[in-house]
Order: sequence, then structure tokens, then C-alpha cells
Amino acid sequence: MSLVLVLVPANAQKKAKKFVHETVAIPQVERRVIPIETQNTSLVLLVHPNGHLETVHYGAKLSHPEQFLAKGVNTEDYNGFRGATYPATGGRYINEPALHVKYADGNHNTELYYTGHSVRYTNGCITTVIGLKDYVTALEVKLVYDAFEKENVIVSHTEILNGGKKPVQLLNYASSSLYIDADEYLLTHFYGAWATDMQMESEVLGHDMKVIESRRGTQNTQGNNPSFLLSLDTKELSETTGEVIAGALAWSGNFRLSFEKDDAHRLNILAGISPHASAYPLKAGATFVTPEMIYTWSAEGAGGASRNLHRWARNYGVYGGGQVNPTLLNSWEGAYFTFNTETLLRMMDDAAGMGLEMFVLDDGWFGNNYPRNNDDAGLGDWEVNVSKLPEGIDFLAQHAHDKGLKFGIWIEPEMVNPQSDLAHAHPEWVVQSPGREIYQGRNQWVLDLSNPAVEDFVFGIFDRTMQLAPNIDYIKWDCNRVIQSFGSPYLKAEQDRFYVEYTQGLYNVMRRIREKYPRVIVQCCSSGGGRVDYGALKYCNEVWTSDNTDALSRVYMQYAQTMIYPACIMASHVSTVPNHQTGNVTPLKFRFDIACAGRLGLELQPKYFTDQDRATVDRCIASYKQYRDLVFSGDLYRIASPFDGSYYGLMYVSPDKKRAVVYTYCIHFEPRTVGGKVFRLQGLDPACKYKVVEQNVDRSCWWGNGQAFTGDFLMGGGFDPTLYGLYSSAVFVLEAE
Ligand code: GLA
Repeated sequence: MSLVLVLVPANAQKKAKKFVHETVAIPQVERRVIPIETQNTSLVLLVHPNGHLETVHYGAKLSHPEQFLAKGVNTEDYNGFRGATYPATGGRYINEPALHVKYADGNHNTELYYTGHSVRYTNGCITTVIGLKDYVTALEVKLVYDAFEKENVIVSHTEILNGGKKPVQLLNYASSSLYIDADEYLLTHFYGAWATDMQMESEVLGHDMKVIESRRGTQNTQGNNPSFLLSLDTKELSETTGEVIAGALAWSGNFRLSFEKDDAHRLNILAGISPHASAYPLKAGATFVTPEMIYTWSAEGAGGASRNLHRWARNYGVYGGGQVNPTLLNSWEGAYFTFNTETLLRMMDDAAGMGLEMFVLDDGWFGNNYPRNNDDAGLGDWEVNVSKLPEGIDFLAQHAHDKGLKFGIWIEPEMVNPQSDLAHAHPEWVVQSPGREIYQGRNQWVLDLSNPAVEDFVFGIFDRTMQLAPNIDYIKWDCNRVIQSFGSPYLKAEQDRFYVEYTQGLYNVMRRIREKYPRVIVQCCSSGGGRVDYGALKYCNEVWTSDNTDALSRVYMQYAQTMIYPACIMASHVSTVPNHQTGNVTPLKFRFDIACAGRLGLELQPKYFTDQDRATVDRCIASYKQYRDLVFSGDLYRIASPFDGSYYGLMYVSPDKKRAVVYTYCIHFEPRTVGGKVFRLQGLDPACKYKVVEQNVDRSCWWGNGQAFTGDFLMGGGFDPTLYGLYSSAVFVLEAE
């Protein structure tokens, strides 16, 4: 063994810098309470003298939130700073963070301290903006809360500013974080697949994490919906009682909701864009604005929470929310790809004859070199197919308008078939990863909306379609596949931006559309309900609830969808039997009574109706038009859950409680010998007398039909329509006398 002796010169020893750990001094601040309030709810934030911001309450309105000022902070809490209003990775915080930043020097620590806040009032909404800062890195965060007073909804988003001199990477960048303290948390959330959209399940949360996520890029809600109900201190979802928090994220791309119950049994809810493959680069001086997270709280169970969300959605969250949209005949299930001008003219004549108000030409009208005669060609080539429709769209729209119908048309502008002129002209516009197969779904590829040139092209499709005829009244915007082999030739080495910028690109297009076409009705469709979220609904009037038009399947989907979304967006169509998706056979009246609980449409070939059918159809459409304003703007009360037994029921009540429509259904066989169902109506004025009139009947289902009853009688167990047979249904309109 040999020893090497290294002699260090004396002056070098002097130069070696001694390692010293220096800390940046954080200014102390005044302890204060920041109440964010609506008529019946308070979210209370507490600023500690050390600058920590803590969420101390979300729930019932507190008369004196300043009483929280006496609350201390547990600085010895070595399990993390629980309750942090916007927890960041670093410092004491060791749970799942809202914010995780990787700095240019490789560091991951961020600690956010309060720097100040402002409050401003605009028209029914109080906006509170809270400033937070990391003093070491100069990263800044603004928490923005919009409190909608009357609706009891709080919408929050976050703005993240890179105040440093070098770029950073955002590894987590949630829209919001919410700490809740209860003994029990029952989470109800929504999942689904093609033709089984919006299914609902509930689970009591245990310790550690429950994550609800979408990594689909597009079709973000055919899978999980970015929304939930959280019932507190109970193991059962109640429609009418108990505390329920409802949340929904306004984002049509990859999302992530996480629910982490910590060792102190507190629950932290994080909601935002999914960080999956999206370590977002933020340049020095740049700001990232997250999508909005919408929250409400109610002590009246799921029903109360839904009604709050619905009111907010109609007033602020849905484009044209609460406006009555026309009844329609859609060509899809009646004609699919096989039609010519004559087929469509006949369908329009029938639609007008039945009293419908619009005709919508679905898929199959475009493509010449690659005609759209089935789903393997033509997407991308948005010019009229001259052999199918030589007279053009203009001629069809004119015919509709002459018949007193509005005219709508289908597009799927984010997509391209490999068999199309577009795919040959612009292969670089397709979402792809170098050297890898570009997988197809429904024989199609996705266009790369993270590329501004593609944004322009997609906007151009909408714009040119609107020019196909004067007065196109309605566009059905479809999106029939998820993103796979993800990546953008345009973004080159910055693929981390892809998923986020695809969705931002989509919104840029929709924003431009709304600037130019404020009045056109837009239906958001994605293989049915694959894009049902409050991000898309800022620009779209309604959604295609599901490709599954079986009335029985719709019972469950419509029940779940209205937990979060208002009935005014719920397109609901009567189709033929046996149902094309499930093979199920249900009576025509049952199909109507289900569809009439949303925006009514028909999606079948009307020429096959018998005279008897036509009489039912005409009567159902006429009666729907009399009460549909209640569907579009009334308050929803669910009076029987389809999960609890053989019956399902719901009602919409006018805001002044003077009118209501009540829907009742039997969805499983019940023997006559057992007895009927007593529905307890809700939301009526107990003292008011209502005349109850059944709709669309040959023989009435209720002994009280045509008579007047007090609200307390109808709510107290007096309403017991006879619904013994499988798929029997009855609809009643109530009018105050
Ligand atoms: C999707 C939609 C349907 C219909 C077809 C047309 O599946 O959800 O309603 O428009 O595309 O191809």
C-alpha cells in the first residue's frame, strides 16, 4: 500500500470558502382573517404572523370569522404544515402539493408567504386576490377567488409568476387546494365509457390518496368527469340533508383531482391540470394561469349542492345558460351516412310536421376525393360532397328555413382521417411522436392544436361551415377519439407543453368563434359525453349526453349528469326501438318522458312512425313546449333515485314556486299486488294550492289528476301515481291557483 501525500499550499487553505448556511429573513406580517363569503357560505383564510396562509373553514356562513384570529399555528408540526391554503413542495410541507417547482439550479423547495390581498366587487361577485411569495426564489403566486353571492359558488384559480432570473419547471400546478375537517368523507364521483357516460359511484375515503384523473388529452370526460360531491360526516349520499361540498374543474384536457386524508384525518382536495408528461416550462418573468375550480357547499344534501351549481352555471358557467334551445330532429340514427338531398328534405318535412323547431344534419355530408360514406375517410376535407348533395347545404338550409325550422350541421374539426386530402397536404399537423406509429382510433388521427397554424385551420373549418348557407343556427362540434402517441412536431424539444397547449389551443379557437358568432348554438359532443366540463361549457350551449339513446340507460346518466351540470345543457333524444346501442325496447311514451327532462330532440327516421305513434309524438312535443322553460331555468329536485328501488322521479320548480313539472317512472317491474310508489315532492310552497295536470295521457295515472292540492300535501306523501308496469311513466304540470 502506498500513501500519496498532497501538500496544500498555505494560501490555498486560506482561500477555501467555509460553507455557511444563510437564511433569507421573512418579514413578519399582521395576523388577519380573510373571509371569502357568499349569501350562505364562508371560506375563511387565516394569515399567521410568520406569513403562513391557512384555510380554517369552508362551510356554513360564519357571523364573526374574525374569531379565528385567536387561533395559533402549530410550528412544531413535523408532519407538514397542515391546512396550508396553497401548499408547495418544500419547507415543512411533505404531503401532496398544489405547487411543485423545480428551479434552474436543481432545487425543489418553495415556501409561500403572504404578501397582501385585495378585494373588489362587481355585479354579484366579490373577487379576492391574495399574493404569496417565495422569498428565496422570487416565485410568486396569486390566489384568485370569485365569490358568487346569490349562487353560493366560489370559483378559484391561481396565477404563478416566475419572478426569478432563470426559467423554472412547474411539476405540479393545481388550480386550488382545499382543506376540510370532518369525521367522515363520502366521495361521489363520475366515470364512464362510450355509451355508458356519467356513471356514478360513492366511497368512504380512507387514509392516504384517492386520485381521479384523465390522461386522454381529448375526450377527457369519457372516463372520469372532473367533478365530485363530498358528503361530510356520513357514509351515505343524501339528496336532502347533510353537508355536501360539490366541485368541478373547468378544463377540457388532462386533469387530476386528489383527495388526501392525512394522519390528523384532515382532507386536502387538490384540483387542476394533470402533471402527467407536462412539467411545464415557465420562463423568467412569465405567468401561468391555471383553469378555474368551481366549489359550492350546501347543508341540504346533494340536491342543495346541485341546485347551487345549476344556478351559477345558468348565470355564469354555460354559454347562453338558461336560454331555451330548440327541439330538433338529428339525422344520425335515422340516416347515418346513407342519405341524399331527398332523404333529408323528407326528414325536414316530417320534423316540421311534428312541431319540431330545428333539423340537424349530422356526419356524412362532406369529402369528395375521399367521400365520407363511412367513418374511414374524409375527415379534414370540409367541402360539401357533390355527389350526395349536389344542390349544396345552402339549398337544404333554405328548405329548413322555408318550413319554419332552424338548421344545424355537424363538424369534427380537431380530427383527420389518413384517407383525406388534408392528411396528405399537412402530415406535420398530426399529433405524433418521431419514429413511432401514429395509432388510429375510429380510423382517425388528431390534429395538433398546440400549433397556432392548426388553430387557424380549425377556426377556419367552423368559419367556412358557417358560410355554407346564410343563417346556420347550430353547430354540433364532435371529437371522436383520445390522444395517443402524443407529441407535436411544432413544439420540437418542448414536448412538456403539449397537453396543456392543446387544450389552450382549443379554447383559443372557441374564443374566436364566440367573438365572431355569438348567437350560433354550439353542441359539445365527443362520442357522446366525452367532453362534459365547465371549460368547454364556457363556449358551448349544450352537450350530447351520450351516444346511448336507450331511455333506460339515460335514466342513470341523466340522474348523474344533473348532480353537477344543469338540465339546460342536457341534449336528450328519442330514438327508435330496438335501441341501436343496447337492443332494449321501451314504449314511445317512456322514451319521450325521459327525453323531455332535458333538451328534447328526436334521432330516428320519422317516416317509419305509425299514425298512432305520430299522435303520441305530436302530443308529447306540444306539451313539452308548454312547460320546457322549467327544464331550462327551474330548480331541480330529485324525488326518487334510480339506485334505490323500482322508481325514478325528478321535478323542476320555477324560481317563484308557482309552477313545476314532475316526472315519475317505473324502471323495474313491480307487481300490482305490492302497491304503488308515494313520491314526496319537494321545493313547493307548502301553503300554495297547485292544480295538477298530467301530460300526454289517454288514461290518467293519478286519482288527483286535474284537481288542486296544497304544497304540503304533495310534499307530505299525498302524491302516489299508479306506475305498476315496467316502463310506465307519467309527467305532471303543477300550476299555483
Ligand atoms: C359520434 C357522435 C354521434 C354522431 C357520430 C357521427 O359518435 O357522438 O352523435 O355524431 O359521431 O359520426
